[in-house]
Amino acid sequence: MSGGVYGGDEVGALVFDVGHHSFRAGYAGEDTPKTEIPSYVGVSEGDTAAPMDIDGANGNGLGLSSDVKQFGKKYTIDTVNLTVPKVGMEVANFLKDGQVEDWDMFEKVLDYVYSHSLNAEAEYHPLLMSEPPWNARQKREKLTELFFEKYQVPAFFLAKTAVLAAFANGRSTGVVVDSGATHTSAIPVHDGYVLSQGIVKSPLGGDFISMQCKQYLEEKGIEVIPPYMIASKETVWENEKAKYTKKPNLPEVTKSWHNYAVKCVVQDYQQSILQVSDGPFDEEQAQTMPQLPYEFPNGYHQEFGTERFRLAEPLFDPSGLRGVGTTMLGAGHLVTTSVGMCDVDLRPALYGSVIVTGGNSLLQGFTERLNRDLSAKTPPSMRLKIVAVTSTGERRFGAWIGGSILASLGSFQQLWISKQEYEESGKSQIERKCP
Ligand SMILES: Nc1ncnc2c1ncn2[C@@H]1O[C@H](COP(=O)(O)OP(=O)(O)OP(=O)(O)O)[C@@H](O)[C@H]1O
Ligand SMILES: [Mg+2]
Repeated sequence: MSGGVYGGDEVGALVFDVGHHSFRAGYAGEDTPKTEIPSYVGVSEGDTAAPMDIDGANGNGLGLSSDVKQFGKKYTIDTVNLTVPKVGMEVANFLKDGQVEDWDMFEKVLDYVYSHSLNAEAEYHPLLMSEPPWNARQKREKLTELFFEKYQVPAFFLAKTAVLAAFANGRSTGVVVDSGATHTSAIPVHDGYVLSQGIVKSPLGGDFISMQCKQYLEEKGIEVIPPYMIASKETVWENEKAKYTKKPNLPEVTKSWHNYAVKCVVQDYQQSILQVSDGPFDEEQAQTMPQLPYEFPNGYHQEFGTERFRLAEPLFDPSGLRGVGTTMLGAGHLVTTSVGMCDVDLRPALYGSVIVTGGNSLLQGFTERLNRDLSAKTPPSMRLKIVAVTSTGERRFGAWIGGSILASLGSFQQLWISKQEYEESGKSQIERKCP
């Protein structure tokens, strides 16, 4: 039973997997996270005369209930709350390069997750949290301190996302290709530990593709009007002018919030339309592929053809990108570079388990192209195996699922940093117990 040693049999450990796109949280031993909320947060400058409160998170028992007077910023958290336009509300992310940057915002999100999403009291649940393999020592110690001191967790553990994703795929050795929002990385894992000399990453992830899509749509004069602006619409076909009316009296929203609303539409477009071509992008061949229709929130409807492939191509071949293309690596290249930096003896085991995870890897054709590019680059004697679950949930929640499995293993229970250990030896325990 997970966490049984510390919390009693009836109380399970919690697993938090925090990424730039979303924060996944739930109970160890379960198949999927209980909740997924955006890692983007609305921030309003509080009225100095008004008490602070967190939208939808009042009375959370963590000292932030609405009747506690606190001055300063007001945070708006979670998918639905974030879709409501509010005067002056900016949108920001508490992470930078996968590491917590804005601690105040992060704590508000944690309060919300505990009290609102999970309805759980932190002090009863051991917590396993994921971290990027490059998380700085000072950040790790600060997390340890935060959870033991403020949240009073009975036990804590930090595990690397890549290791967890490997576990989720039933492997403790392999090279993990994680294509998320902000980056794509190749991370070698051996016997459950990251081989840090072989970490290779590029900033070509889902957000980059969103930016490409947005630029493309702008160039084509296709308006991306987020739903919050639309009062009514008619479906209008390609090359006709969109017919919709805007909502009157919209509040004066910030650029960052509007851009967030636009990005949500663009992400839907990219997930529905884009496909990675099975070999290097070829205009003529792409023309023979089926077109796909897409209807924008303002009712404008169009079929998309070659751009479906062209827009996804930089993930595997960035050479066509103006200015930056030559300095970045495509996904296949990330893997060969990563494996090339590991011990020769380990390479067969790494190529034998190329584990694909992360939301952006769900782009149609991603794993097939990776397989093809890697087959072309690895010696024929090397057995290459791409390990990728097909279900979208499992791919997006790879690290969370690995955490869920790990934290519920009997043999893991002795690995937690217990509250007692923390009290005796302090936050530096994290380096010793979670290397
Ligand atoms: N079905 C899908 N098809 C294509 N792309 C998808 C799909 N689902 C999610 N994505 C994209 O995956 C990205 C989010 O991936 P993921 O949840 O792995 O990121 P994250 O772990 O939160 O972020 P990061 O790893 O950068 O910290 C977004 O860019 C999103 O648009
Ligand atoms: Mg991620």
